[in-house]
Amino acid sequence: MPILRILGIESSCDDCSASLIECDSTRDTHPYFKVLSLKTRAQDEKHTLFGGVVPEIASRSHLESIHDIIRETLEGARIDRTSIDAVAVTTNPGLIGSLLVGVSAAKAIAYTWSKPLVPINHLEGHAMSVFLDQETDIQYPALFFLVSGGHTQLYLVKSPPHEWQANWLSTQLLGRSLDDAAGEAFDKSAKLLGFPYPGGTWIDKTAAESGNPNAYDLPRPLSKKDTLDFSFSGLKTAVHLLIESIKEKKQITDLKPLLPNLCASIQEAIIDTLLAKITRAYETHECRSVVLVGGVAANSRLRTKIKQQKFDNVTFPKSSYCTDNAAMIAAAGAMRFIRGEVLEGEPLLLAKASP
Ligand code: KG4
Ligand code: ZN
Repeated sequence: MPILRILGIESSCDDCSASLIECDSTRDTHPYFKVLSLKTRAQDEKHTLFGGVVPEIASRSHLESIHDIIRETLEGARIDRTSIDAVAVTTNPGLIGSLLVGVSAAKAIAYTWSKPLVPINHLEGHAMSVFLDQETDIQYPALFFLVSGGHTQLYLVKSPPHEWQANWLSTQLLGRSLDDAAGEAFDKSAKLLGFPYPGGTWIDKTAAESGNPNAYDLPRPLSKKDTLDFSFSGLKTAVHLLIESIKEKKQITDLKPLLPNLCASIQEAIIDTLLAKITRAYETHECRSVVLVGGVAANSRLRTKIKQQKFDNVTFPKSSYCTDNAAMIAAAGAMRFIRGEVLEGEPLLLAKASP
């Protein structure tokens, strides 16, 4: 059967999501996944009071949502369950309580409907998000850069997804953050400025209100060093010190009029740091394409600036597929299903939520 339909389930952090996608399994070098249905319930308002994700609240919220989300997804796709080929679910990395909710739901569906279960690494899901609902022309070797709230990882991807080895996430890793992820740098800076969680989109929007990216001088951590690793914790401290000194010097408590310039400067420091490493990795490994994925890949300034660099080919997912969603998990599931990397019968019931 060349046409595959995969049900994906994602619950690794604070987004409860299910999706049904369709693909032509005979397409190899440039895969394309049509999203038939995608339902995601974010929990932002439940965590914003705490300034970050509270694991216990996240897992309880998943428990309340997962049933409705899956039902709505299946109804939205208007296809009969008999035409679903497999169920894919995020099994790692993530919050264990949250993962367990999605994995339990996926196992129950796979077992009762007699479908194979495909365990998916969340990071591989993000990498596949670039193939959702869009044609791509990625050339290999490609630099896949995952920039999210939990990860900042640079991968040298030597071949298209149908040739990816089971362990490519560990064997092809070139660099990663040694402390905070890029999304965390956005979120923590936004929190210091008084924005709700998650703050990345707020910084993006506020900087776009004619903010001057050179208004304040902030560090570009490790960008000149001969390493492909990142470090963002110092930037957070620099932002904290900057805010304190502005308040002291100007004798003000309300930062509102300064927010566009502050946001633009913080955003620029993060983006410059990311671009310096991308350029170094691209040149060192003679890459032919750059692929940006993860929540931070939705950032409008990053998208504009990366296109101005001298990369042969830059691709990112549609903005709505940058942040956590189950369609990307289903897409990764399709590739692994094609390769026969599935759980059936007893292994399905024994599968753990996380390795
Ligand atoms: O991929 P994602 O949904 O979750 C993880 O797997 O971590 O990414 C969420 C992160 C948050 O840190 C959020 O602030 C950031 O992506 N983010 C953005 C933007 N949209 C989401 N950061 C900067 N600019 C944006 N437009
Ligand atoms: Zn994610």
